[in-house]
Amino acid sequence: MFNTLFKFKTGNTNLNLDLSTIDLEKVPQHIAIIMDGNGRWARAQGKPRTFGHQAGAETLKNIVKTADKIGVKIISAYAFSTENWKRPVTEVNFIMELLSRYLTSEIEEFHKNNVQVRFMGSREGLPEVVRQKMEHAEKVTAENTGIILNLAINYGGQAEILHAVKNIVSDVESGSLKVEDIDAQHFEDYLYTKGLPAPDLLIRPGGDLRISNFMLWQIAYAEIWTTDVYWPAFTPEMFLEAVKAYGGRERRYGGLITK
Ligand code: IPE
Ligand code: IPE
Ligand code: MG
Repeated sequence: MFNTLFKFKTGNTNLNLDLSTIDLEKVPQHIAIIMDGNGRWARAQGKPRTFGHQAGAETLKNIVKTADKIGVKIISAYAFSTENWKRPVTEVNFIMELLSRYLTSEIEEFHKNNVQVRFMGSREGLPEVVRQKMEHAEKVTAENTGIILNLAINYGGQAEILHAVKNIVSDVESGSLKVEDIDAQHFEDYLYTKGLPAPDLLIRPGGDLRISNFMLWQIAYAEIWTTDVYWPAFTPEMFLEAVKAYGGRERRYGGLITK
């Protein structure tokens, strides 16, 4: 058990998080988050949707800090999907610019906090400047040993599986891989998450009860936690609530618990 208060400053507010009810033994290693509801959050205040994306980017920083503090090893956060290109070009452009700015302004802070930044998704189709910032962020933080922030940008679960299948076929054709050697473990080496354990907990704010093409392979046995609260309004306290709920779940993986 933690017996401390976790204090940190976010914008103009000082947060005092009570960690005493978090059971260290039951903290998920890997948490996946579908950061949804930015647009509706902004609209509810009579602001443009882009305002919500800006606020959502701030939320992520606080959640990563909190996650790191309680011993979570990996946060996989859905920032932009392969389907989000269907949105109006002005919104897409805003998100790309926001990503580019975020990867510049926040990288020093992440680096200082020993966060390792990784990405998953297709780099093809992304603006050159975003790709460069992604490469830079990865390079600068590659040796960091703290929490891994795995950002999903131009990511789709189906696209990821197709990408893996194509590479597998190509390796079989070139003779470096035998069909009989392809098993689930081997298959995972072809996914963007190679080397990472599967998410234990999937959090979806924003009220929709669906997966929206996120980590289809990897979430096979993830515990799911949802809230109607929109992502920009999602707080570290709510994050701790999800972690606590996870601690009370019984994971069976299709088997039986023998007591
Ligand atoms: C999530 O918020 C961010 C992205 C998908 C880029 P939305 O933009 O989907 O916000 P809502 O769901 O429309 O409120
Ligand atoms: C999922 O949210 C994608 C991200 C959070 C980046 P969407 O808003 O795109 O999902 P749908 O359209 O509601 O399923
Ligand atoms: Mg949405």
